[in-house]
Amino acid sequence: DKRNFRHFMLKEIYEQPETAQQWIDRFLPMDLPSENPIAMPVSKSILENIEQIQILACGTSRHAGMVGAYLLEQFAGVPTKVYFASEFRYAPPPLSPHTLTIGVSQSGETADTLAALRMEKERRDSTQDPNFSFHQLGITNRVDSSFGRELENVIDIGSGIEIGVAATKTFLGQMLSFYGLTILFASHRQKRKSQEILDLSNDLRLIPKQLTNLIKKHDSLSKEIAHLFVETKDVIFLGRGINYPIALEGALKLKEISYIHAQGYPAGELKHGPIALLDQHVPVVSIAVPGVVYEKVLSNSQEAKARDARLIGVSTHRSESEMFDELFTIPKVSEWVSPLLTVVPLQLFSYHIAAHKGLDVDQPRNLAKSVTVE
Ligand code: M6R
Repeated sequence: DKRNFRHFMLKEIYEQPETAQQWIDRFLPMDLPSENPIAMPVSKSILENIEQIQILACGTSRHAGMVGAYLLEQFAGVPTKVYFASEFRYAPPPLSPHTLTIGVSQSGETADTLAALRMEKERRDSTQDPNFSFHQLGITNRVDSSFGRELENVIDIGSGIEIGVAATKTFLGQMLSFYGLTILFASHRQKRKSQEILDLSNDLRLIPKQLTNLIKKHDSLSKEIAHLFVETKDVIFLGRGINYPIALEGALKLKEISYIHAQGYPAGELKHGPIALLDQHVPVVSIAVPGVVYEKVLSNSQEAKARDARLIGVSTHRSESEMFDELFTIPKVSEWVSPLLTVVPLQLFSYHIAAHKGLDVDQPRNLAKSVTVE
């Protein structure tokens, strides 16, 4: 039931505050000690023995994995690599000892992700060397799936059924689950001061309210500007650090539902090729939030502006409004939690362009909600 929404996708974007709140109530409850606040089913042996993590996923789930890898490495100090499941199957890296393999899949049925996980299990089991034994964790929205049946440890992101082919609230649930894992590793391994763990937990607890405010605001702004992009053929999305995967996700959303070609880049790469594409017909969406790469992203955006590109910003600062032709503001949050907010205007931006073009937002051509073929 779409209630009063025109499309499931819009309804699901609006459900994100609830998704976040439910995730927090389950996995970050108030009654746990602040230095060890996460209630997630991850065994002590995983938390103690793992030396590295590999994440296998496709599409949007892989982008959540990339945000996860940033957090696991930079916040919790666990070396982490992310693979396209479809590539991993045919070119797996040499076996590494004490490795946790995480599969991420909203549907729990994606053929490439399942096959990559099965293959990894087989090759680890066949070594019989305990250093290479198989430790596995699944992150899914559907525990009633092949993921749920086949994997020994599953985190149920609990985002509720998602109907729109474009993943929105499940992306949020997947990212949140990586925040949970990151805090688990960081606190268990004492990689961070308890104050830092507490700060991150408190920042996460503010997310549902911040999402509610954001969604309303950006829903109207995206609707207002959608008509400007109806003739657009290409859009470039820039982000760096923890928001680089959000640039990729923004581009994927736009491609999927509006059929506009879009590409996400780490902003520093702009000058190494993509800048040649820029002129007044190629809008650039730049995610620029305060943190380690803030000034860098702003100067990369300036380079785009100098090539006459229409510049759309996702930033915390009103003062940046002079540089940007359009600006989606988010509250001033720590850079760590910013992806949970920066993705929202990009979802709404894609949604309104596609809706304005009269496209079938919930069932885009050539796509299926779960991709059960290779
Ligand atoms: O069910 P999964 O999360 O494994 O699906 C993976 C991709 O097919 C999926 O994320 C796809 O990219 C979405 N349509 C993105 O909106």
